[in-house]
Amino acid sequence: MRVLGLETSCDETAAAVVSVEAGRGRALSDVVHTQADLHARFGGVVPELASRDHLQRALPVLDEALQKAGLALTDLDGISVTSGPGLVGALLVGVQVAKSLALVTGLPLVGVNHLEGHLLAALLAAEGQPLPEPPWLGLVVSGGHTSLYEVRALSDYRALGHTLDDAAGEAFDKVAKLLGLPYPGGAQIDKLSKGGDPKAIAFPRGLSKRSRTQFDFSFSGLKTSVLHHLRSLPAKPEGQELSDLCASFQEAVCDSLTLRAVRAAKGAGLSRLVLCGGVAANSRLRELAAERCAAEGLTLFLPEKRLCTDNGAMIAMAGAHRLGAGQRAPPDLSADPGWRL
Ligand code: KG4
Ligand code: ZN
Repeated sequence: MRVLGLETSCDETAAAVVSVEAGRGRALSDVVHTQADLHARFGGVVPELASRDHLQRALPVLDEALQKAGLALTDLDGISVTSGPGLVGALLVGVQVAKSLALVTGLPLVGVNHLEGHLLAALLAAEGQPLPEPPWLGLVVSGGHTSLYEVRALSDYRALGHTLDDAAGEAFDKVAKLLGLPYPGGAQIDKLSKGGDPKAIAFPRGLSKRSRTQFDFSFSGLKTSVLHHLRSLPAKPEGQELSDLCASFQEAVCDSLTLRAVRAAKGAGLSRLVLCGGVAANSRLRELAAERCAAEGLTLFLPEKRLCTDNGAMIAMAGAHRLGAGQRAPPDLSADPGWRL
């Protein structure tokens, strides 16, 4: 099955053609236009600007995805679009483009949840790499979400925990802003942490082990702690001091994420852990998750870094599964900015 995936939920206009055989997805093309430069001077995503840019980029990006795959619309078996959650104006652009395409081509259309897309990015593994088989535990760590899901079957998800305040990516971006680094800050902090000492500053790890919140996360205290630390310094940190601060902050985030993910997997009796979402591209998170999973006898699945951050291939993958199960979007499909998985 060959499916076109379209993603416009936040600040990336992305389109990809994915071919799915025996449950494994292969991207025939995967085009991502990022708006990072557009939003950088505001220090975060400006929804109005995001919608406008999606409107300008959607068709060129889509066209490029088809060209790179060497296919025409008539060669496809279906269209998949992110219809939530996300910025409503941004989502509307993708949904309307996808509905119009479906109408004129007669291709089946499905609207998918962005978080399901992240979770199923693990099924786009290269030939020869093992695929995760449900049930598995999925940790979605992105700019807008930090959640643990038990994937009981593809399309059957049970939420086990969420962040109670900031998402992990949001914490990275806010701390980067405090440090004067450009938006989005996650990748910058990752890079600066390379030469830093993760033990230089003992930042807090968030929630205690209370049973009610044992699978939940909290990052706002950590962010405040970084702010207090910065205020205690005579000048903005640079060089080694900046690297040490980045590494210590990053370690606190990765420690708390991996600890809870492993705890939740064991608590729910799951032996497989899948990391996904933009923050899953973080090199220390990938390393620490591998260490902890090995120590606890869990099998870890890590999508390629480019499949962790927002892309169209993951949306095509999730859509292929739903289209294969006979699901179709109604002609009055709308965007659902608050859609919970
Ligand atoms: O999944 P994603 O592309 O978009 C959302 O659905 O939110 O995630 C974006 C988030 C941003 O907060 C960005 O700073 C973070 O992922 N991110 C990283 C890294 N690469 C992207 N955070 C830490 N380390 C990275 N290498
Ligand atoms: Zn995302």
